[in-house]
Amino acid sequence: MSRRATVRQVQYLDAMGIQSWQLRRAAGQNPDAAQPEKQGDTVAHLDWDALQQRVSGCTQCALHRSRTQTVFGVGDRNADWLIIGEAPGKDEDLEGEPFVGRAGQLLNSMLLAIGLKRDQVYITNIVKCHPPENRDPKSEETVCCEPFLLRQIDLVQPKMILALGRVAAQSLLRSKLPLGKLRGSVHSFRDTGIPLIATWHPAYLIRTPSEKRSAWEDLKLARRSVERAS
Ligand code: URA
Repeated sequence: MSRRATVRQVQYLDAMGIQSWQLRRAAGQNPDAAQPEKQGDTVAHLDWDALQQRVSGCTQCALHRSRTQTVFGVGDRNADWLIIGEAPGKDEDLEGEPFVGRAGQLLNSMLLAIGLKRDQVYITNIVKCHPPENRDPKSEETVCCEPFLLRQIDLVQPKMILALGRVAAQSLLRSKLPLGKLRGSVHSFRDTGIPLIATWHPAYLIRTPSEKRSAWEDLKLARRSVERAS
């Protein structure tokens, strides 16, 4: 079965109620939250333009009230590398593009070090709106945004997903393990078979430069995964 079919299958499983009790419970915590399985259903067939339009008009969770604009994603829509961060920061909220602030500058340097320009990868976030005070996204916010991200993954069909930071890694892998335990090895993104590698968030690397060496090991692992899949 193709990767495109299996990503959609994941969405269908979600829509059919596998783990939906969890999704409903999380969504129920917020009066703004729609039933995510319905949202997933209607998003699963959108093309890029329709998807971007749907995201920009989204009012499913409370984050729409405080955002300047949604931050959809940027880069090569057919990239081998799909890079997923946590949520837009203040700079990204103002510019409408992921990773344009200090963390973004470091991400660009990390990519260049591994031989990639920013426009050769696709970059997006778990949630598309800036959480106030840079707090972590809440579970109901992540749940509301997930159909958008799953559709982006389905459209890009990357050879490898690089999750930046604890929030992205735990959310994509549906794990509560600390990032230190999730990084350093190759996971599979749910049942799609797409290799997923987790690494430190560039904002954390700015605060903790001693971990740059291990981040570099993760990037090399990511590159090897892409090479293997090519
Ligand atoms: N941090 C993130 O996780 N994403 C961005 O887009 C910017 C900073």
